[in-house]
Amino acid sequence: MTSGCHGGAGLDRGAYTIFKRFDPHSEASATLTNGRSNAMARQLGIENAAESKSCTICHSPMSQVPPSRMAAPPEGHAVDSGVSCANCHGPEENWLLSHTRPDYPKDALARLGMRQLGSAYQRANNCVACHQNLSDELVKAKHPPLVFELDGLLVAEPKHWREEEGFSNTKTWLVGQAVALRETAAQANREPGERRSAEIEAIGALLKATGTGWNDSSKDLVRAADEYAKRISSGPMSQEQTRTILSKLIGDRSPFQADAFSAVAPGFRSWSVGYYAERLTLAIDRLNQSLVAAGQPAVIGKELLDALFDAAKPPESFDADTADQFVKKLDRISLHVSEQGR
Ligand code: HEC
Ligand code: HEC
Ligand code: HEC
Repeated sequence: MTSGCHGGAGLDRGAYTIFKRFDPHSEASATLTNGRSNAMARQLGIENAAESKSCTICHSPMSQVPPSRMAAPPEGHAVDSGVSCANCHGPEENWLLSHTRPDYPKDALARLGMRQLGSAYQRANNCVACHQNLSDELVKAKHPPLVFELDGLLVAEPKHWREEEGFSNTKTWLVGQAVALRETAAQANREPGERRSAEIEAIGALLKATGTGWNDSSKDLVRAADEYAKRISSGPMSQEQTRTILSKLIGDRSPFQADAFSAVAPGFRSWSVGYYAERLTLAIDRLNQSLVAAGQPAVIGKELLDALFDAAKPPESFDADTADQFVKKLDRISLHVSEQGR
């Protein structure tokens, strides 16, 4: 790529520069040669993680394209490994020339294969493909767990674009959770298991606790979650709603009661509580940040939040004692918020 395209100065012009310098995706294939990857590969009986589809599908998707189908890289650049522009924006061979014309309609570019990433729903569908589902095999080989949380991922992703007016972190978060539920439910259809059911019930309980109309009685969970995600993505989301959702999430103790998650096998109910606590903590953090990003005062201070993060232990170790500790931290936040409201 030349400095005239996305290698120059400025946000848009600088996309390539930002990516190469700061984006973890550009190093994703190099990860497959580190010690942790070697250990995983040994456990899986794979000779070389960097050449195994079990890993490259997410860490180096371009390496699966036969070289004869790849366009020659621009002068001075090696063939991209890792996760590259096309993995988010779509293969560029057909839109590369048209996309620089300011008058060229976006939907026409979409028809040429440029993936639309403007809405929360579009982004969630793109990112979730690599950021939520691990096969049982990879879980067993101790791959780091993947907890899909779209808003946090987008914030951590070095920005090479500007958000449009009306962008909502809360909406992004909520759509991300619905899509995480959809994907986990789809994965459970392929690879059922108690651990996955525990996670599904936990995400469902979280959506329900937001009071935004999630209805979990559907038989087809994959479809219900998809429709809910689309609906939330295309609707409005005000600061007032953010505050309402946040206070509902902080106040809801039903997932911590003895009769919670009764649909889950007894030995895995504590996992559900753990998954719930993990995602609830991320939610409280994101919604709090959403208010700050909109120029409002933070509802919850750093110290209270840090204590909650500390108490959100991994789901597999979430016993009754851990749950008690977690609820105590949550109570402190409730108290703080109600004192503020007075
Ligand atoms: C083709 C697969 C793929 C897609 C699509 C993808 N990612 Fe990633 N992402 C990865 C991999 C693999 C890593 C781990 C990189 C490493 O450290 O080796 C990663 C790491 C990250 C990280 C740093 C680690 C973390 O969890 O904070 C962020 C942030 C991130 N991705 C954001 C996004 C966002 C936002 C999207 C959607 C717009 C997205 N990714 C789409 C594969 C993907
Ligand atoms: C479903 C997509 C997916 C698959 C398949 C996958 N990974 Fe990952 N991997 C990720 C993502 C996303 C991250 C970033 C997690 C984070 O930081 O939150 C990651 C992180 C890692 C990390 C930790 C990051 C680091 O810098 O040390 C290692 C190691 C790793 N993967 C190795 C592997 C190996 C080896 C395989 C194949 C056996 C594999 N991964 C398969 C998506 C995947
Ligand atoms: C992890 C996913 C991801 C990767 C990898 C990625 N982008 Fe992006 N990019 C996005 C998202 C999300 C947006 C915001 C799109 C929107 O709001 O319409 C964006 C926006 C852009 C924009 C601004 C377009 C607009 O309409 O505002 C340009 C230009 C761009 N990307 C170029 C690149 C280039 C060049 C690369 C590779 C060097 C790259 N991107 C890699 C996710 C990614």
